Amino acid sequence: MILIDGFKVSNEIKDELKIKIDQLISKGKKVPGLVTILVGDNPASKSYVNSKIKACAKIGMLSKIEELDSTTSEKALLELIDKYNNDPEYHGILVQLPLPDHIDENKVIEEISPQKDVDGFHPINVGNLVIGKETFYPCTPYGIVELLKRYNIDTKGKHVIVVGRSNIVGKPTANMMLQKKEGANSVVTICHSAANDLKQFTLQADILIAAIGRANFVTADMVKDGVVVIDVGINRIEDSSTEKGYRLVGDVKFDEVKEKASYITPVPKGVGPMTIAMLLKNTYEAYLRNEN
Ligand code: GUN
Repeated sequence: MILIDGFKVSNEIKDELKIKIDQLISKGKKVPGLVTILVGDNPASKSYVNSKIKACAKIGMLSKIEELDSTTSEKALLELIDKYNNDPEYHGILVQLPLPDHIDENKVIEEISPQKDVDGFHPINVGNLVIGKETFYPCTPYGIVELLKRYNIDTKGKHVIVVGRSNIVGKPTANMMLQKKEGANSVVTICHSAANDLKQFTLQADILIAAIGRANFVTADMVKDGVVVIDVGINRIEDSSTEKGYRLVGDVKFDEVKEKASYITPVPKGVGPMTIAMLLKNTYEAYLRNEN
């Protein structure tokens, strides 16, 4: 079994980007900029946003957090997005999800300029992904595809089973793996929590992508020998022995599934750090498209 080290790969990608940004700086050019908007005080969201900002700083990217109160109106949020749509210092805009219930998530996503939509959530970018045109790939699916590529895992004609149908992970991952190009070209099945018998699907996976959001959900009896396992889950479970009072586990019961897998991602340090690295890559890409 080979452990897929997302932490190491994410650092390689950040190093590659840092070199490019250093070159911009040495030529006296503007650097790429990312603004992250956080509404409310969801602790997991706060922690993700802080990691994103730290990663920007590490590679010399301009970054800013806009922290808004949970009672912020939808109108105020839309106006703030519009301000950054028109701010040439910021090439990427990310609104951390989920948003408070009184704000319409779709409206917010649609307000972000598609050219600055480094999450790839705008319907124009989603549509471009589906038809194979230039787009921004959503960061977590992009990270998954990049991990498979950098570990030389053959995907052509393989049966990829995606467990989970979210707009952030499940659906875009399936669309990316379906693309007729290198690093994809797979046969793809999406299944989800409403399936009568999920195991009947997961057992068919050459590559299993678990993004169902339930701790330790995928067990050894649900996978075949030699499966490649990508665990997207980041679930907090109570653990009084840790300083924080919780620890992170994936959607896959790692200790038992690893015995059957040919490759597997751990949690933490698997897909999680890749999401951030690909966000930086998308922001750099947005910079190139806007500045050139
Ligand atoms: N919440 C959980 N994952 C994501 C993500 O990739 N982007 C945004 N904007 N919010 C998220």
